[in-house]
Amino acid sequence: MAKPAVLVTGGLGYIGSHACVALAEAGYRPVIVDNLGNAKASVLERIRELTQSDISFHRADVRERQALGALLARERVQAVLHFAGWKAVGESVEKPVMYYENNVGGTIALLAAMAEHGVRRLVFSSSATVYGEPERLPLTEDHPLRPVNPYAKNKLVIEHILADCAVADAGFHYAALRYFNPIGAHPSARLGEDPRGVPNNLLPYVAQVAVGRRPSLRVWGRDYATPDGTGVRDYIHVMDLAQGHVAALAYLERRARSITANLGTGRGYSVLEVVSAFERASGKSIPLEFHPRRAGDVAQSYADASFAARELGWRARLGLEAMCRDAWRWQSGNPEGYPD
Ligand code: NAD
Ligand code: WQD
Repeated sequence: MAKPAVLVTGGLGYIGSHACVALAEAGYRPVIVDNLGNAKASVLERIRELTQSDISFHRADVRERQALGALLARERVQAVLHFAGWKAVGESVEKPVMYYENNVGGTIALLAAMAEHGVRRLVFSSSATVYGEPERLPLTEDHPLRPVNPYAKNKLVIEHILADCAVADAGFHYAALRYFNPIGAHPSARLGEDPRGVPNNLLPYVAQVAVGRRPSLRVWGRDYATPDGTGVRDYIHVMDLAQGHVAALAYLERRARSITANLGTGRGYSVLEVVSAFERASGKSIPLEFHPRRAGDVAQSYADASFAARELGWRARLGLEAMCRDAWRWQSGNPEGYPD
């Protein structure tokens, strides 16, 4: 029997590329669409190498509704994992229209193409950032949603659109997955995170310090009400996250209902704990500079991960040590990231 085809938008990006490998391992046929706006073409070769298969790739923009529709039909797509979008919080504050246009506009074009071609299962990359400043911890899915920047608002608007689509069409089912902080890399070191320019996120920055690309880590704030004064986050291994998508897809097939779930480990680590773990994993020392808090940061954010465990039958298996080990293996094996 032919393997079910799953369209992966943004499939050459950090999380999408790992998800393609997990999908192929689970017996699906990933079909990638990416406009290369934040990815390199060489990622495709790595995915093909790891999956030992000639994964289909289409360089296209998800906002091109007609092209997308033709692709859904030609590839006989059964379901979609939707990763495509811009993700830099600071940039979203400076260029809100660009963010709404790509993230919300892209999702609308995708949903229209799906409706036209009878594709009625979608897994969406939402984010824990939709919760805003936590009122209580751990964060459960019913926590109030008060996003504080355009990027986070994009995610919430899209969640609302998906809920409306599910009301309008009883046969349409989606999973909105609220990721916490994805880090790490494929254990082969062939796939990993390769940000352009100066990394915004903690782990890629630490990894670039360890490999000698940057002199020191700037720690944003040491006066938070946390055990060591630095920010606490729920870091999740990208391989676990990728498996979460396979579990969500299986849920949509099995249960034929929509779901919104946190994907995290349920455990928070401070910046200094992450740095220590990375130093142990890499054998390198990470010089630190302490700076004032970064605007928009919260003291702590971590998931109640029990809903995903119960409903999806999925839980994160890899701890901080594995996350740092694999991030270091990736960074040291690919010091300048992917080749052009
Ligand atoms: P990424 O930038 O590495 O991947 C996104 C991919 O989408 C890129 O390859 C980019 O070229 C592509 N893309 C962007 N706009 C497109 C368009 N209009 N048409 C076709 N392709 C397009 O980001 P990532 O870290 O892999 O994140 C994937 C998704 O998960 C995003 O939606 C992001 O908002 C969400 N998310 C990420 C994190 C995180 O910390 N990385 C956390 C929560 C949610
Ligand atoms: C983690 C901790 C920083 C960099 C962001 C987005 C969120 C989501 C994931 C997509 C914080 C500290 C960081 C540095 C530091 N993305 N830090 N020095 O802010 O939790 O979440 O990425 O949905 O929407 O906001 O992640 O990795 O940037 O920061 O001290 O150079 O590390 O202050 O405490 P964050 P992060």
